[in-house]
Amino acid sequence: MNAALAPPAPSFDEWMAAVQTRVEKALSRHLPSAEALPARLHQAMRYSCLNGGKRVRPLLAFATGEICAAPGEKLEIASCAVEMIHAYSLVHDDLPCMDNDVLRRGRPTCHVEYGEAGALLAGDALQTQAFLLLAGADLGVPSVQLEMLRCLAHASGSLGMAGGQAIDLDAAGHALELPELELMHALKTGALIRAAVTLGALCGESLDDDARQALDRFAKRAGLLFQVVDDILDCTASTVTLGKTAGKDSAADKATYVGLLGLERSREFAGQLREQALESLRPFGDRAGRLVELTDFIARRRF
Ligand code: IPE
Ligand code: IPE
Ligand code: MG
Ligand code: MG
Ligand code: MG
Repeated sequence: MNAALAPPAPSFDEWMAAVQTRVEKALSRHLPSAEALPARLHQAMRYSCLNGGKRVRPLLAFATGEICAAPGEKLEIASCAVEMIHAYSLVHDDLPCMDNDVLRRGRPTCHVEYGEAGALLAGDALQTQAFLLLAGADLGVPSVQLEMLRCLAHASGSLGMAGGQAIDLDAAGHALELPELELMHALKTGALIRAAVTLGALCGESLDDDARQALDRFAKRAGLLFQVVDDILDCTASTVTLGKTAGKDSAADKATYVGLLGLERSREFAGQLREQALESLRPFGDRAGRLVELTDFIARRRF
């Protein structure tokens, strides 16, 4: 098509809404139906995954996919798998034995609605559903699909999200030094964000080592930025805006950036991380346009 006649690219908000809607529908298709037995377990899984969430990890996968011409159908599968792991991590994070939260995405948490055992099982089943989906889809080259499975498993386990959550629980009531705090955040939140970017890249044409490393540098910085902002929002935003109980971190004496550095220095640090994340995207030029916009969204989000 003549460039002069090409339709204008969607705005960031339009693009974001389109990805969110697409992922919401795909998640609904890839989760067992609410009627399938055992119905209550499937209802708890759907309750925790659907109708809410910013879908930042899918957005990162789709935005990364623009760098390497990844097809939407593959990105959809990768996004749903990461989002199921994310939803499972939230269900367990909210349990009384962990953060003991009663509100998530503006609704009662899974265990409030389905009981503790119900929430435990919903989390377990969401985790395995993610791997069933990723292993069973037609994603092209088998070795690349295996690499995707390995990436998501690594990001979810003891050297990733679950490990970070273990550090988080151990650290409550203690003052962590900066390197330990950074490691905790890099694992509990950063690992899945990094996986979302890597999976997005693995859905597309293969990238050279330099590009892969630059993307991974970006993802590490964006992941840490995401959790630093989460720490800031916990003590600056309202429960209504967040859709989860504000002020929980200081009430539970959690190790956070705000706790260690104070609000102003945490904001400065978030600003530096944003700059560093954007810096890692420079080699990609215009192809990283959506990732640049998404970095700003992550840095400036209000919930
Ligand atoms: C909340 O994640 C938990 C953290 C890792 C900080 P999100 O802020 O992405 O939660 P949703 O999916 O939008 O609800
Ligand atoms: C959660 O960190 C990280 C994971 C769920 C893995 P938080 O405990 O700070 O997340 P919120 O604030 O409850 O969403
Ligand atoms: Mg937590
Ligand atoms: Mg929590
Ligand atoms: Mg938090």
